[in-house]
Amino acid sequence: MSPTRLIVFGRQGAGKGTQCLRLAAHYGIPHISTGDMLREAVAEGTELGLQAKVLMDAGDLVPDDVMEGIVIERLAKPDAQPGWLLDGFPRTLGQVEAMLRHLGEGFVDLAVNLDVPVEVVTERMVARGRADDTEEGIRRRLELYEEQTAPLLSWFRAKDLLVEVDGVGTEDEVFERLVKVVDAALEA
Ligand code: AP5
Ligand code: MG
Repeated sequence: MSPTRLIVFGRQGAGKGTQCLRLAAHYGIPHISTGDMLREAVAEGTELGLQAKVLMDAGDLVPDDVMEGIVIERLAKPDAQPGWLLDGFPRTLGQVEAMLRHLGEGFVDLAVNLDVPVEVVTERMVARGRADDTEEGIRRRLELYEEQTAPLLSWFRAKDLLVEVDGVGTEDEVFERLVKVVDAALEA
């Protein structure tokens, strides 16, 4: 399997981070999680971290121009040249347009929608208890997902770039499903 460029979509708490770690190791490409990058900036107390913390705690999105800068810089690094696995980006139409602007048409090989119902992701986030997993934070993030991110699925589907994977089940079951579907789509 040759290295490749993948985007993983899915509601907050769907298991993107969990599965992307394993997929990145499996395909030998870097796992680029914008949420993890922002949490690192918060932990380091950088200017970006200070700006992001307030928004993240409330479940709001960091502005597109800020995210664009972070991701485009990250994708230009040497380890990302053979391919990459994006988790948490793009999540607005503006972010898709930024990728098109910087990387051109054909900027991605495949997008995966890791599908998990709202009730299940809510239970998972409550059990996880991350700083933004408060009742209000979860509600706001899921609301923004429906408003801003879910519509992107149609964009990728229309370009025949989207595959769907059921994200309910054990971590191993979901991982097996993902590899099967991704391999089949990339070989097609
Ligand atoms: P981000 O870090 O991306 O958080 P999120 O969108 O809320 O998604 P999560 O990380 O909560 O879910 P996940 O799908 O990774 O699930 P996980 O694997 O942890 O973003 C955080 C914030 O940063 C945003 O709100 C925003 O402010 C900002 N941000 C980030 N990117 C941005 C962007 N592009 N533009 C603007 N702002 C941006 O799994 C969840 C839990 O379930 C875990 O406890 C896990 O152990 C468990 N679990 C996983 N799989 C299973 C399974 N199969 N069965 C049972 N439990 C499971
Ligand atoms: Mg995550």
